[in-house]
Amino acid sequence: MDAITGENATVSDSKLASEIRKRRTFAIISHPDAGKTTLTEKLLLFGGAIQTAGAVKSNKIKKGATSDFMEIERQRGISVATSVMSFEYKEMLINLLDTPGHKDFAEDTYRTLTAVDSVILVVDCVKGVEEQTERLMEVCRMRDTPVIIFINKLDRDGKNPFDLLDELEEKLNIRVRPLSWPVNMGRDFKGVYDLFNKSLLRFFPNQKVTDDDIIPLPELSDRILSKYFDERDSTQLKNDVELIEGVYDVLDKEEYLAGKIAPVFFGSALNNFGVKDLLDTFIQIAPPPQNRETNVREVSVMEPVFSGFVFKIHANLDPRHRDRIAFLRVCSGRFERNKFYHHVRLDKNIRFSNPYTFLAREKSVLEDAYPGDVVGLFDTGNFKIGDTLTEGEDFYFTGIPSFSPELFKELVNKDPMKTKQLEKGIRQLTDEGVAQLFTQHGGNRKIIGCVGDLQFEVIQYRLLHEYGAACQFNTLPFYKACWITGKKEDLESFARFKQANIVEDKDGNLVYLAQSEWYLNTERQNHPEIEFHFSSEING
Ligand code: G4P
Repeated sequence: MDAITGENATVSDSKLASEIRKRRTFAIISHPDAGKTTLTEKLLLFGGAIQTAGAVKSNKIKKGATSDFMEIERQRGISVATSVMSFEYKEMLINLLDTPGHKDFAEDTYRTLTAVDSVILVVDCVKGVEEQTERLMEVCRMRDTPVIIFINKLDRDGKNPFDLLDELEEKLNIRVRPLSWPVNMGRDFKGVYDLFNKSLLRFFPNQKVTDDDIIPLPELSDRILSKYFDERDSTQLKNDVELIEGVYDVLDKEEYLAGKIAPVFFGSALNNFGVKDLLDTFIQIAPPPQNRETNVREVSVMEPVFSGFVFKIHANLDPRHRDRIAFLRVCSGRFERNKFYHHVRLDKNIRFSNPYTFLAREKSVLEDAYPGDVVGLFDTGNFKIGDTLTEGEDFYFTGIPSFSPELFKELVNKDPMKTKQLEKGIRQLTDEGVAQLFTQHGGNRKIIGCVGDLQFEVIQYRLLHEYGAACQFNTLPFYKACWITGKKEDLESFARFKQANIVEDKDGNLVYLAQSEWYLNTERQNHPEIEFHFSSEING
């Protein structure tokens, strides 16, 4: 269809609507080791995207491998391959976006969450809610992302399921509604009762379960339950279900879609137990691609003209080729190969002759893509995270956060002959989102902020191997970066007064580096005219 004249609008609109309806774009998130990789693999098996278990390598750097650069390289290879996994299931097209498990790469995860419409959160029943679970959930809450919770490892002796539900509500600040319920745990684990479909799935260690093993159980009478369980387990299940139905409201889908309530499933990813239930409910209730906010207006997913934004950039694995892959989320209309699109930030038109799709884990060239899809674009340095492509309109998608780093080091050039390479390298690496670059306000000192130490090692290694630039890092005593806003003259006077702590981010925004919470609070008290923010929104 011609986007300007609107010709053939009806035909294309219905095609667009049906493509949007069948798409589900989501991410699985968890504290490391809760079972994200295992669950991903089981979902891919259902989708036919992989044939054997063990095909998805754990996308994480094993503990203790922090200095192993081969490991980092291997990791980068894997994460390109598994960054997006698209598969079909029951006539739905599912785009599963991978997120790194290692906490040093948490920021990458936060950004990926801006490109999904919902998430599945995996919680280990033994450990309950962990530190990273809480932080990830905070990010979901920022955008009211709908969340389904999968409580994993029921084959292990975990916490009492009611306590787990309380813990979820308390620590994650969201209401929950169980949709399945376990009969015991650990060695005594007997299965899960599906509260939604009123059916029972029994667990037998080392035995595969299929659809045929699902037993419809509309009524939990002693007579029927005694066929499957002893008296103690029957009574327990009956009491538990009574309690749940009494205490928890029926799941309100609208509340789930608004991110206010999270349905909860119990199962064991390793045993592929309870996973199909989860997937079947997911495709029924999870939202299709949603409208998105820009700095100018809300973009409807149904608009016939294309728009999208870059949420992730990946360096080429081959250091001799500096090109990169930019991951673009399609937000409206139809993306087409070889068509010119407007790069809003650079104000130039670009076209892509080899855009990638990630269907069935094979990278292949695509002809077109629809809202919810992720397209891999070859990039020779045009993109940075947050960049928007349109068919001519000038706007930026908002809501892509840049969080305060927690470690700060000064970048010191060790080879003055390679200053240009170092500058270029650090600019490109920080465009990829590996770390944040700050420059001394009114000076040239470069300060790198990261979430974890591992990122400094990656930067040093990549600067040397990809750009031929040797550098060294000197630790700085800062603990947080705060973006500051206020009246121009107030900001200028504060910047003069606190010169040693004031830097600029890559977009020229003023940032105050605080040595400690005490210093930060003091500045806040002494300067009520200045606002301090722990995150800046790229394109905010
Ligand atoms: P992650 O991506 O969230 O970091 O977790 P991952 O899937 O790698 O799982 C972490 C560990 O937990 C793995 O064991 C995995 O086999 C185990 N696991 C996952 N689901 C279940 C489950 O339902 N029950 C039990 N008992 N274990 C589960 P590992 O020994 O660390 O790794 P591996 O050698 O098995 O790969």
